Amino acid sequence: MDAIRIYGGNCLDGQTTIQGSKNASLPILAATLLIDGICEIENCPEISDVFHMQRLLESLGCTVEREGTLIRVNTAGLSECDMPSDSVGVMRSSVMLVGALLARIGRICMEYPGGCVIGTRPIDLHLRSLRRMGVTIEENENGFRAETAGIKGAFLTLPFVSVGVTENLILAAVLADGVTTIEPAAREPEIQTLCDFLMQAGARIEGSGTDRLVIHGVEKLMPVRFRVPADRIVAGTYLCACMCAGGRIFLKDAPAGHMESVLSQAVAMGAAVEYAPDGIAVTGMDHESASEFIKTGCYPAFPTDMQSPFMVAMALSGTGGRIEETVFENRFRIVPELCRMGADITVHGNTAYIAGQSRLHGAIVQAKELRGGAALVIAALAADGTSIVTNRHYIDRGYEDIVLSLRDLGADVELA
Ligand code: EPZ
Repeated sequence: MDAIRIYGGNCLDGQTTIQGSKNASLPILAATLLIDGICEIENCPEISDVFHMQRLLESLGCTVEREGTLIRVNTAGLSECDMPSDSVGVMRSSVMLVGALLARIGRICMEYPGGCVIGTRPIDLHLRSLRRMGVTIEENENGFRAETAGIKGAFLTLPFVSVGVTENLILAAVLADGVTTIEPAAREPEIQTLCDFLMQAGARIEGSGTDRLVIHGVEKLMPVRFRVPADRIVAGTYLCACMCAGGRIFLKDAPAGHMESVLSQAVAMGAAVEYAPDGIAVTGMDHESASEFIKTGCYPAFPTDMQSPFMVAMALSGTGGRIEETVFENRFRIVPELCRMGADITVHGNTAYIAGQSRLHGAIVQAKELRGGAALVIAALAADGTSIVTNRHYIDRGYEDIVLSLRDLGADVELA
């Protein structure tokens, strides 16, 4: 079956090493298209979204080799510009290849990425901004064809912050003719890591980590070897698992410096966090403590990708509370599943109201997307009895072997 069976009630104990960041690896792999030659990207997680990106690069004519978590990309054979039609439906982040392909070969043909359960996730901002950079885009009901004789630098003012748009525009701008300003730019750590990779290859980028990026186009970028940092969302997921199941675990390589809002929320909910040079130790939360309000937002605010896992913690906490989701319009899809496990949660608009002191019980529940699926596994760890989380493939998109990792930490879990 495409599922995970969890026998709840075990506290967690031990150490887990946090995998490389999915949301840093994907744009960096897209960025290799800008570089003629061989780039070596270390610490790329072995997850289906990254495997899919590898196949995409190969379908465009690149040679891609993987040795464990090292991915070697040779773009010398880059020739294609038609994105395989099935790819974009499978993985939305295929859209971040657009900027790089336009910069490198000047054209791309692609179907619109579908929405997903967390929201419609349009790409209007991507296309509108690229048009401002000298790209001609013809759209039809299924997708678009984009071409340019050469990307021009532009002053780009965005109506709101978008991680993917910021990444796409950076990739379009680094080889452009002239200077590009992006404002407001996303400040997520993954954007900073992308800028680090590109600057190591010779790009000229000012303002990395701020909401205003100024990119001076250069002639050429050089091949580099680069290490992807650990995944802050995966680290937050295991932290939350320990908060809910109880016990004490060490998250090796966890990027504490990029987890401030999550760590302070965990402490407010009664967890203990100890910092070490190579990671953080976490002790499960005191169920009498509570933090009564979480509001998601753009970095450095509380990350939307941590919203579902912390909903479980809030249901188990002393007084419960409410969660306001400001990034995606439909990111409470796990609420009915959690209610079937005994939680008492109601949703009004973009706010979920969670009653505390829930006694969760095992159930058969359905993952509907990546982070909600991980949250259901967390709920099952804390629940009385046996749970089965179906649609495990959603979880495999972002977590390396979550069953093995949790079993090594003392959880009673198995593939089902
Ligand atoms: C990235 O998605 C991440 N994905 C998401 O992580 C993350 O939740 C999100 O950023 C916010 O931090 C990757 O990095 C691969 P956005 P992205 O553009 O770039 C709207 C995970 O679980 N929008 O910042 O798609 C959009 O619909 C995933 O790892 C437009 O309206 O997010 C959303 O409401 C889930 N038009 C808002 O902006 C556009 O052209 C912010 O989305 C583009 C976006």
